[in-house]
Amino acid sequence: MSPLSSNHSDVKHVLPQPVPAPSFWRVPPAKIQLPSRHVHVWRGIVDPSLPRLQVYQEVLSPDEQARAQRLIRPEHRRRFIAARGLLRDLLSRYLHARPQDIQFGSGPHGKPFLQHPTRPFVHFNVAHARHLAVYAFSQDLEVGLDLEGNRGSLDYTKLVERMCSPEELQTFLHLPAAQQKSAFFTCWTRKEAVVKAHGKGLTFPLKHLRVSFLPGQFPEILDVQGQSSALTHWSLFDLPMGSGFWGALAVAGRPSHVHGWEATLDAG
Ligand SMILES: CC(C)(COP(=O)(O)OP(=O)(O)OC[C@H]1O[C@@H](n2cnc3c(N)ncnc32)[C@H](O)[C@@H]1OP(=O)(O)O)[C@@H](O)C(=O)NCCC(=O)NCCS
Repeated sequence: MSPLSSNHSDVKHVLPQPVPAPSFWRVPPAKIQLPSRHVHVWRGIVDPSLPRLQVYQEVLSPDEQARAQRLIRPEHRRRFIAARGLLRDLLSRYLHARPQDIQFGSGPHGKPFLQHPTRPFVHFNVAHARHLAVYAFSQDLEVGLDLEGNRGSLDYTKLVERMCSPEELQTFLHLPAAQQKSAFFTCWTRKEAVVKAHGKGLTFPLKHLRVSFLPGQFPEILDVQGQSSALTHWSLFDLPMGSGFWGALAVAGRPSHVHGWEATLDAG
C-alpha cells in the first residue's frame, strides 16, 4: 500500500508518493491554524499515564463518563476516556474553547458533530484501533476516517464477499495469496472512511461503493451505485499508521493540503 497518495492533481505537489511513513506525522506547531480546504490528521496513542487519564476524565461530559463506566474491560475504558479527552483537547486548539465546554451532537447514524455553531466551524471524524486513535479536522470539508489493526484469523474471502460486489470479489480472488490480506484491509478502510465521511456508517451498502484496492493503485472511489455522482468527486488517502495497521481518510471534496500531526498525550 502506498503511504499517503492521491490521484488528484491539485494535491500531488503536497503529497508526493511514496512518502516514507514516519515523515508524514510531524510535531505540530504551538499555534495551530486550519485554513479553508486544508485537512489536518492527528495520530495519537491512547494509552495514557494515570495523571493524564484523570485530566481527561474530568473534561468528559456526564454522558461520556457514563459511557466509559459501561465499558467492562479496563483497557477499553481507559482508551475510550483518553480518545475522547484527546478529541476535546485537539478541538479546543481549533476552537479556542476549553475542552470541557465543547458539546457534541450526533447525526441519525451516530456521527458526532459540534453541537453549537462555532467559529471557525470544524468538521471532524475519529477512528480507533487498539492503542491507536486517528482524528481528522477540516473547516469546510466533511471528513471520514477508518483505522484497522491486523487480525490473525480472519477469513478474508468471506468478508470480501460480504462487503464487495461480485466484480470486486473476482479481482480480490485473482490476487496472489500473499497480497490478499493487505488488499482486504486497504479495501475495508477505504470503504469505511467513505461511509463515515458520508455519515451513514455501515448502514451504507458497502457493495454499492467501489474503491480501488490493488497493490500500488491510487486510492479512489471508482463508482457508487444508486448515488448521485457527487461521491465520485471525493478524495481518498491512505494513512501510514505503522506496521500492522491500515488507515484511510475520505474527504468530501478536494483538499488543497493534508497535514499529519503527532499527538502526544502526556505532553498535552
Ligand atoms: C461508525 C461505524 C462505522 C464505526 O465503526 P468502528 O469500526 O466500530 O469504529 P471506528 O473506530 O472506525 O469509529 C468510531 C468513531 O466513529 C465516529 N462515528 C460514530 N458513528 C459514526 C457515523 N455514523 N459516521 C461517521 N462516524 C461515526 C465516532 O466518533 C466513533 O468514536 P466513539 O466510539 O469514540 O464515539 C459503525 O459504528 C457504524 O456503522 N455505525 C452506524 C450504524 C448506526 O446507524 N448505528 C446507530 C447508532 S445511533
